[in-house]
Amino acid sequence: MTNPEIPATPPSAPNRVEIKVRKNGSLLVTGDFTLIDHEGREIVRPVGKPNTSLCRCGHSAKKPFCDGAHRSVGFCDPPDTPPAADTHGGGTPPAPVAPA
Ligand code: FES
Repeated sequence: MTNPEIPATPPSAPNRVEIKVRKNGSLLVTGDFTLIDHEGREIVRPVGKPNTSLCRCGHSAKKPFCDGAHRSVGFCDPPDTPPAADTHGGGTPPAPVAPA
């Protein structure tokens, strides 16, 4: 899914960070970035890996990193929703509408 209002960044752009939402799984972060905890301390990422997999299911024993627990708990993405009208650049989906 591509937002036509956000210009595409060439894959070869230096210092580009890409975050891929994996189907029924983690957030796969590729690029040069620093991970900071709630107190401002750096969280050291696994060494020697070209990317970092962050948990989004909430069940990893190694948070914020994914340890594969999403598979054993059966984590599933929510159903696809159409992109929201982007008025502030955040792409927040609209609130659900109660059935009539
Ligand atoms: S997304 Fe993999 S353990 Fe949570």
